[in-house]
Amino acid sequence: MSSSVSPRSPLIPGFSKILHGGDYNPDQWLHAPEVIDEDFRLMAVSGCNTFTLGVFAWTSYEREEGVFDFGWLDRIFERMAEHGHKVILATPSGAKPAWMSRKYPEIRRVNAAGLREPHWHRHNHCWSSPVYREKVGAINTQLAARYGRHPALAMWHVSNELGNDSLDGQCFCPLCLGEWRLWLERRYETLENLNRSWWASFWSHEFTEWEQIDPRDWSMDSLSVDWLRFRNWQIQDWYEFEAETLRPLSPGIPVSTNFMGVHPWIDYAALARKVDFVMDDQYPAYEIDDPGLIRSAAAVSFKDSLYRCFKPDRPWMLVESCPDAPQWKERMRPKPEAVHQLEMLQALGHGAEGTCYFQWRKGRGSREKLHGAVVDHSGREDARVFRSVTALSRNYERLAPVLGSTPQRAGVGLVYDWEARWGMEFSEGAARGGHAYETVAGQHYFAFWEQSIPVDVFPSEGDFSAYRMLILPQLWMLKPGVARRLEAFVEQGGILVATSYLGVCDESNLCFNGGWPGDGLMKLFGLWNEEYDTLPGGETIEIVPARGNALGLTGSLTATSLCGILRDVEAEVVATYGSGMFVGTPAITVRRHGQGEAWYVGPRLDAEALGAFYRPLARRLGLEKAWDGELPPGISAQRRLGDGEDYVFLENFTPRSQTIALGGRRVRDLLTGGMLSDALILPSAGSTVLAVPSSY
Ligand code: GAL
Repeated sequence: MSSSVSPRSPLIPGFSKILHGGDYNPDQWLHAPEVIDEDFRLMAVSGCNTFTLGVFAWTSYEREEGVFDFGWLDRIFERMAEHGHKVILATPSGAKPAWMSRKYPEIRRVNAAGLREPHWHRHNHCWSSPVYREKVGAINTQLAARYGRHPALAMWHVSNELGNDSLDGQCFCPLCLGEWRLWLERRYETLENLNRSWWASFWSHEFTEWEQIDPRDWSMDSLSVDWLRFRNWQIQDWYEFEAETLRPLSPGIPVSTNFMGVHPWIDYAALARKVDFVMDDQYPAYEIDDPGLIRSAAAVSFKDSLYRCFKPDRPWMLVESCPDAPQWKERMRPKPEAVHQLEMLQALGHGAEGTCYFQWRKGRGSREKLHGAVVDHSGREDARVFRSVTALSRNYERLAPVLGSTPQRAGVGLVYDWEARWGMEFSEGAARGGHAYETVAGQHYFAFWEQSIPVDVFPSEGDFSAYRMLILPQLWMLKPGVARRLEAFVEQGGILVATSYLGVCDESNLCFNGGWPGDGLMKLFGLWNEEYDTLPGGETIEIVPARGNALGLTGSLTATSLCGILRDVEAEVVATYGSGMFVGTPAITVRRHGQGEAWYVGPRLDAEALGAFYRPLARRLGLEKAWDGELPPGISAQRRLGDGEDYVFLENFTPRSQTIALGGRRVRDLLTGGMLSDALILPSAGSTVLAVPSSY
């Protein structure tokens, strides 16, 4: 498929292994050195090679203010180096010591009711407190000075899951509110600008002093969107502050922080620009007999596709996952070895080069004592989960050829934009239930996933020009310049597919006047989306393909939950509404512009209808698949391009054994080392990687 691709540099320079290991907390076992000895023995047995240290270890470093003890960590680092293991060293700011909370109340966040929280839990410090910054700066500097050039140190892990709290679990202290107002002043310069951008005369909300602006006023959705922008600024600012405490003392060592999948309100596309490489926490816990498994697997691939696009030139890593069941899931089902490998290979197929676990060893007490781990309370190396991890390490050695290869270039781009999501989800009257923004984006992605066609996922600031097809699921908010770039994309021959809720609002979340899709886009699509009809839960509406339509659609399609009602259509009508108040009116249209096409999908189509819609388009464009032969339903494939050979990751997300016909092509199964040419049989939950000549 590719003749020559330049290899990507590894996550850790000079370390050509798939990173495999986990969060290791020797700080919880300092009273039991024999357990730590045993850990090092078990690490060697397990074949793991990378360990994250110190995530919540602050009290083990600084039990009393200003009295530091790093002796224990010195010894752990020495032993890591002796064993050839790599360390990801975390900064400890994710959980503060109790003495600090008591002595400096300002570091504890203030809740939405204005009450300062007690010392409890974690991930709950005030982002603006100068005292907390000073304390974090001091401990980080000590860590960086001591370990920043240590041969075992591979990466820095800033804090933990920055922003892992709920929307109303944020800090509303006077310091944070002061920062918020300064941020607003920088953004708007005058209150007049702000009032206009927020439509503030509604309910008499016009502000006459910056101090009047309270973020807890959820009645103004433009304010709420800005509050999330501000919160993201706080998170990024915090990240940069911490990263800067490390970099000067640790030259050349990459710095990052662990992300949390498609978190609804953390704009990871923006945070990804700040980190040196991307790492994610992901806990899919597939159940192979779950009828919804294929959907859940596709949702993880959606997220992985977003992640591989954050920094396309660098591998990313799964820094937290679980070899067994996490204790916070509804059900604690033991994870079979095949499912464990399936989950990990899915990430590698999408460009990851490391998969680590939370956690190496189960602690004896507290909240996560029953959370899956490599080492169970039994401590036995013949425990099922330990053997599963060991088996994966052996397979990772066999997968070494994959290192440095590049995910296949996608011909399809899909726009997923956090700010557009906030705009839609904060707007009362929008059909936003069930995380509709993410869900609908995932449904469009699924139509390609089931055909093993790679899709790049990125926000609306991304470059559209590299794609043959661009999909805009519910791009509610059009930031400045986006509409013109969409027009240029179509003028240059691109196939643009938009859905209802395109261009409802501008970047202030104010509705465009003059008709939807706004910002001049009615002309591009040749229509006016006059109204929206939100269907009652569970109700469907029939969509009738037009005779001789451009896609060759026949029969009828089904739509759910939302219908865009189209008027003044100067485009080819591909399908109409078959029932309901708007029966007979256009539902799906296409307007041609030279070689380019602007498609508009008014209703939210169900999965089957989306498949029927996209298949003919994909065929016509000759979109490359990860595997160009037929794949049984539920088998997913991803391709990575190497030098002379490519690597096709195949995963069976069904409870049945499946046969993949190879049609006489000779391929190498990297896990068994065997050559195959007839068929590959993947057992239930089976996964493997085939090395194929690049010309396939
Ligand atoms: C993550 C967190 C870890 C651990 C894990 C349990 O969100 O970063 O510290 O709590 O969840 O699944």
